[in-house]
Amino acid sequence: MKCISAAALFLPFVLATDFTVGVGKDENTGKKGLGFDPSSINPAVGDTIVFEFRSGSHSAVQSTFDSPCTGNGGFNSGVMTVDDSLGVDAPDLPTVRLLVNDTQPLWFFDEAGGLCTKGAVLSVNPSTTQTDAAFKANAAAASASPSSASASPSASGPASPSGSGSGSASAGSASGNGTGSAAPAATSPSGAARLAASAPALALAMLAAWAAL
Ligand SMILES: *[C@@H]1O[C@H](CO)[C@@H](O)[C@H](O)[C@H]1NC(C)=O
Ligand SMILES: *[C@@H]1O[C@H](CO)[C@@H](O)[C@H](O)[C@H]1NC(C)=O
Repeated sequence: MKCISAAALFLPFVLATDFTVGVGKDENTGKKGLGFDPSSINPAVGDTIVFEFRSGSHSAVQSTFDSPCTGNGGFNSGVMTVDDSLGVDAPDLPTVRLLVNDTQPLWFFDEAGGLCTKGAVLSVNPSTTQTDAAFKANAAAASASPSSASASPSASGPASPSGSGSGSASAGSASGNGTGSAAPAATSPSGAARLAASAPALALAMLAAWAAL
């Protein structure tokens, strides 16, 4: 019995949920329209966002809290074009799925739809400091700023492990993943160095052991 209950602890009881988000569907009227329906969701780790595209040309593109209407190089559904003859909830509308890997906030806008500043944005797991309302306010204000490409020192960037030299970090110039990958990247060189340093010692010890035979 103990064995069974112990084994049960390790069974994957996580039930992943699909969060379907209509793109090009007005969340207030339920009809074809501007934005995402719903425009704010709170999926858990392992859940999946299912973008479901309505009439016209739309795309779900990942952006940042500070620059809601500028792609950050992360997720991009690609442009999906749906015929106007299809009803708002017609069966078999095209979908694109995105797995949620953590509970960090994610931000999206409808790039192809082109109405980001009018509210065509989606908040995923907004926080108490980065709220859905503030994100929408940032989007509404985005037209005022000339959204220059230089204005993208996003929170993720700067951690690049400068010491590592010829890394992949510089080439990638990744926007989304900086913080997550930076820490492991910074530690792994020293780990590798330790291993390299200890290798000769190990070889010597083995040699000595072999000689002793
Ligand atoms: C972050 O990195 C992981 C693996 O390194 C990758 O699977 C994921 O797509 C990346 N996410 C973004 C937003 O680039
Ligand atoms: C989660 O990880 C998967 C697999 O690595 C990746 O395809 C996906 O883009 C990630 N999700 C996000 C939101 O970055």
